[in-house]
Amino acid sequence: MNDFYNKDLISIKDYNRDQFEKIFEYTEKIMNMDPTKRREICKGKTLSYLFYEPSTRTRLSFESAIASIGGNSLGISDISSSSAQKGESLADTVKIMSIYSDVLVLRHPLDGSSRFASEISSKPVINAGSGTEEHPTQAIQDLFTIKKEKKKIDGLKIGIIGDLKYGRTVYSLLSGLGNYDVEVHLISPESLRIRSDSIYEIRKKLSFTESTDLEEHIEDLDVIYVTRIQKERFPDEEEYLKVKGSYVIGLDLLQKMKDDSIILHPLPRLDEISTDIDNTKNAKYFQQAEYGKHTRAALLGLTLNENGF
Ligand code: NCD
Repeated sequence: MNDFYNKDLISIKDYNRDQFEKIFEYTEKIMNMDPTKRREICKGKTLSYLFYEPSTRTRLSFESAIASIGGNSLGISDISSSSAQKGESLADTVKIMSIYSDVLVLRHPLDGSSRFASEISSKPVINAGSGTEEHPTQAIQDLFTIKKEKKKIDGLKIGIIGDLKYGRTVYSLLSGLGNYDVEVHLISPESLRIRSDSIYEIRKKLSFTESTDLEEHIEDLDVIYVTRIQKERFPDEEEYLKVKGSYVIGLDLLQKMKDDSIILHPLPRLDEISTDIDNTKNAKYFQQAEYGKHTRAALLGLTLNENGF
């Protein structure tokens, strides 16, 4: 039986390097497969999604992923059109969705929401973003992108920039990187530094520096992972306005970087990467979004097939 079969994916912390490598291997397999054969992988299976927060890529990549392997999807992306609006609980909604599908994908503003849903659902639950805590499928996609574009993960110098306080993709990515031998530089405004309580465990596995200066390590970085300032999570708009636009990656900065460095972003981007960068060979964020579809297809294929595919 494969490790992912019929399992929830709630936290990236529950996975090790071998398991990541397994997903990468299956992602490559999916990318190289004949489409007719690929559509056999989850033929007749249904994915349901329940999104209590906005999403473009995560939801659509899950929908596109399940379709690419022969399954179908149904779900709620606008909570105001569902019975949650009438006051139905998350627990009841999850129970119903798990009756109508084989796997459930949940995004919710509260930390712990996916773990809670997994205790109620009779089908595997995949966390598509829970509060400021985790976004594990994004981390799998990010690690795959790094490996694919740099041909390795070990030995790399990785800068993570932006909103490290509220950006959930950062916490999942750091946990994932803890399985590799990398040097990490965290760069953020003082008020958006990483939450030390949330990285207590990560610290044991990963060495990193913290700085407010974008240029401090820029010449050494192999990967620069840029994040959006998470406006919606600020308790006070005044605080947001103070840090808005803190860092902008433009062509001037790119010139200081290694020729073969890559720029990643989970997207959506606001103004933190200038659009001039988009057509450079270093910009890999749209490629990263494409890999997200294939890594999710691999994950779904493994979750829904006992012996892999
Ligand atoms: C991220 C998220 O929702 O955490 N988006 C995504 O899934 N690619 C990042 C963000 O919203 O800034």
